[in-house]
Amino acid sequence: MALAEFLAQLDQLVADATATFSSATSVDALEAARIEFLGAKGGRLKATQKGLGKIEKADKPTAGKQFNEAKKIVDAALQEAQQRVAAGASQAGDREPFDPTLPGTAMRLGRLHPITQTIEELKDIMGRLGFTVADGPEVEDERHNFDALNIPIEHPARDPLENFYLATAGHNGSPLLLRSQTSTVQIRVMENRPPPVRIISLGRVYRPDTADATHYPMFHQMEGLLIDRAVTMADLKSVLRLFASSYLGDDVHVRFRPSFFPFTEPSVEADYYWNGKWIEFGGAGMVDPNVLREVGYDPDEVTGFAFGLGVERLCMRRHQITDIREFYKNDVRFLRQF
Ligand code: PHE
Repeated sequence: MALAEFLAQLDQLVADATATFSSATSVDALEAARIEFLGAKGGRLKATQKGLGKIEKADKPTAGKQFNEAKKIVDAALQEAQQRVAAGASQAGDREPFDPTLPGTAMRLGRLHPITQTIEELKDIMGRLGFTVADGPEVEDERHNFDALNIPIEHPARDPLENFYLATAGHNGSPLLLRSQTSTVQIRVMENRPPPVRIISLGRVYRPDTADATHYPMFHQMEGLLIDRAVTMADLKSVLRLFASSYLGDDVHVRFRPSFFPFTEPSVEADYYWNGKWIEFGGAGMVDPNVLREVGYDPDEVTGFAFGLGVERLCMRRHQITDIREFYKNDVRFLRQF
């Protein structure tokens, strides 16, 4: 075969192959084109290669070189077309219409922490008894955490070892601490409004206790305060009983034990019965006249009661949780159960 004829065949092959590859629009069409031109058996390139053997000896180097060039161009054209088709295919995938009627996979939803859920429920129950929610800061001064609550300066509850005092003092130089009880909110509310008062306050309190199954250095309390004319201990007991049966069930047994708090007189501790044991769920009492005087109320005009309950303990009893530390490990296997 003459060299010119061979080279003409090569040119034609390159022109056909590049045109076919570049016009292919699908993976399948391109694969068919690949087999047509580059197929190991019966491909057009292979067929043309056979012509090489019939070239004059002197022309062979030129023919061979041109053949290799042609093959490179065809290979490159195929590669380019393959990339183009692949990119186009994925674009087409993106553009596929969204069908909202197709069955889907249920999304894994997060949920409220069990303590948050408990707080919401407690607000609900107390709301039905006419108590509105009040709030107070977690960083407190000694006046609201102690002084105004009739807790004298030498009282052991003020010991630095029993409290989280902050290294920096307040703006007037008085020490600050993380509140050790929500009774602080009683003072803040009474300072700011005249009686009658009927509030609850739910939030975190801090005490440097070693964590064990029933203690944690941070926990939640629900404070209640009712001030009005002629409020008596009977009202306090009724409210706490009503609350306990609403949250823990009608069959709950509640008992009141005489106790002492500097800010209530008389004072009681309220227990409920669980798992064969009496568990303390909070302290309560009639607001001490000294506290009323401290906030500018007249103890001859109004009386009232206050209580402070442990939120974790209530939630633990409700859900049969036996270790308070579970609430604060953030183990989703625990949290997911509520
Ligand atoms: N503040 C008390 C405590 O943290 C509880 C309490 C509140 C007692 C109100 C009486 C009245 O232990």
